[in-house]
Amino acid sequence: MAAAIGIIGGSGLYEIEGFEKAEERVIETPFGAPSDALVGGTLAGRQVWFLPRHGRGHRLLPTEINHRANLWALRSLDVRFLICVTAVGSLKEEYHPRDIVLPDQYFDRTSRREQHTFFGNGIVAHVAFADPVSQGMRKILHSAAEGEGARVHFGGTYVNMDGPAFSTRAESETNRKLGFDVIGMTNLPEAKLARESEIALATLAMITDYDCWKVEEEPVTAEAVIAHLHANVSAAKRIISRAIPLIPQNPEWPEHRSLDGAIMTPQPLWPVE
Ligand code: ADE
Repeated sequence: MAAAIGIIGGSGLYEIEGFEKAEERVIETPFGAPSDALVGGTLAGRQVWFLPRHGRGHRLLPTEINHRANLWALRSLDVRFLICVTAVGSLKEEYHPRDIVLPDQYFDRTSRREQHTFFGNGIVAHVAFADPVSQGMRKILHSAAEGEGARVHFGGTYVNMDGPAFSTRAESETNRKLGFDVIGMTNLPEAKLARESEIALATLAMITDYDCWKVEEEPVTAEAVIAHLHANVSAAKRIISRAIPLIPQNPEWPEHRSLDGAIMTPQPLWPVE
């Protein structure tokens, strides 16, 4: 059986053209409950699982998201390839609202890290994270986005802040001076946990605003973020539909072996059937 594909995104991302919904699964994990029930079905002959990051009805703040439960639930359903869709602010003039960025690096400006690892409590492991995004998945998303005629940037550094308040101008300017490209509140823990669970992850970052550094523009508001995200949701759906048939059947990339040599405590991590 081909490995399953996961999509972590916003609430409007279920009714992709051609998706045949088969079931909803409410999953309990050793880390608690995921953001919502997972919606499963097939798209282009592949098993796909959708999970709305903030829960249906957008109930969870970025720091309230149980990323560990989300990633654990996806992995327990044999998800080995993962597409994240997320809103970001632009820190660069040439990265316009409604463009898409495929980040290849992250910078951690969070202060609460308990959601950044599955390890601890007797299991010590350190995964390599120098290249935190799956190159194979990023290339697939790039060709799918280009095929859809989207304005897409292949690469960029995503700085992850805690939120929920947006940045001050001083913070925004500092992030720009440090060379970061986009800013968001959620994707870094997902990337870390995907790596720890040997899932190949790449992110479709949809630019919704210029944060607050661009003085001739209104500073970012939640309302503007939502308006641009909704406008972009159909582009995201088309890109995902194009990407899915390009995803390999079997998990044979380096990200799928990221625990080789990483675990220092001799103990199995995943339940063995
Ligand atoms: N998500 C969308 N726009 C953002 C911004 N400007 N800062 C942080 N997260 C965001």
